[in-house]
Amino acid sequence: MIIWDKFIRTFHWLLVLCFCLNYFFLEHGSSIHQAVGYTAAALVMSRVVWGFIGPPNARFKNFLPSFSGIKKHLHELKEGEVKQTQGHNPLGGLMVFSILALFLVQAVTGFLREEVDALYGDSFLTSLHGISANIIFVLVIIHIIAVFITAYLGKIELIRPMINGKRRVKRHD
Ligand code: HEM
Ligand code: HEM
Repeated sequence: MIIWDKFIRTFHWLLVLCFCLNYFFLEHGSSIHQAVGYTAAALVMSRVVWGFIGPPNARFKNFLPSFSGIKKHLHELKEGEVKQTQGHNPLGGLMVFSILALFLVQAVTGFLREEVDALYGDSFLTSLHGISANIIFVLVIIHIIAVFITAYLGKIELIRPMINGKRRVKRHD
């Protein structure tokens, strides 16, 4: 069963690469940092378009988080029975929207403090840029832990579909 299309998978791993380069390796503020940052922003904007025109699992309307959805999902996890046909579960959806939004905050704050004369070097924007990067970092850690916990408690393959797109259908023994 195909879960994640090629666009989503390429988007995901390129975004991981951009984040790690900018957060851990490249000199903060350097021109390569800016180029990688804008690449991440371009990836996120294409993902937003894909959220409206892509296949069902990629569509935003199919994983808009809601309180009732999250409650039901937590119950499913407790029972160890996460529905196999879905793309993002409701908590995953919340995480996706938060991460996408924060990448846009990175790009906007980086752009404004660097390119707009009146705001050049603005300390508020610079701290916002740093704080938002740190929030993405914390969310990513939670994201990775959540992927492993959901895979374990829900007995569901999550990582494989993000690599080759496919999930093996669960047998009911
Ligand atoms: C993947 C997206 C990005 C991440 C994760 C990221 C992360 C960071 C981090 C952690 C810092 C250090 C902040 C601090 O010292 O408190 C920083 C600094 C900086 N970033 Fe980014 N950034 C991203 C995108 C961008 C973009 C698109 C620009 C566009 C101009 C940009 C411009 C800058 C500049 C100019 C600084 C230096 C600020 C200073 O002089 O202290 N960043 N970035
Ligand atoms: C900087 C690091 C990371 C970022 C920014 C990130 C971001 C994201 C985003 C935005 C999505 C939503 C995909 C979409 O619908 O477009 C996602 C999904 C996913 N990510 Fe990551 N990710 C990171 C690291 C990882 C790592 C290291 C793994 C592997 C352990 C991973 C596994 C997954 C999986 C399995 C999904 C799909 C979850 C589901 O089935 O609902 N991610 N990630």
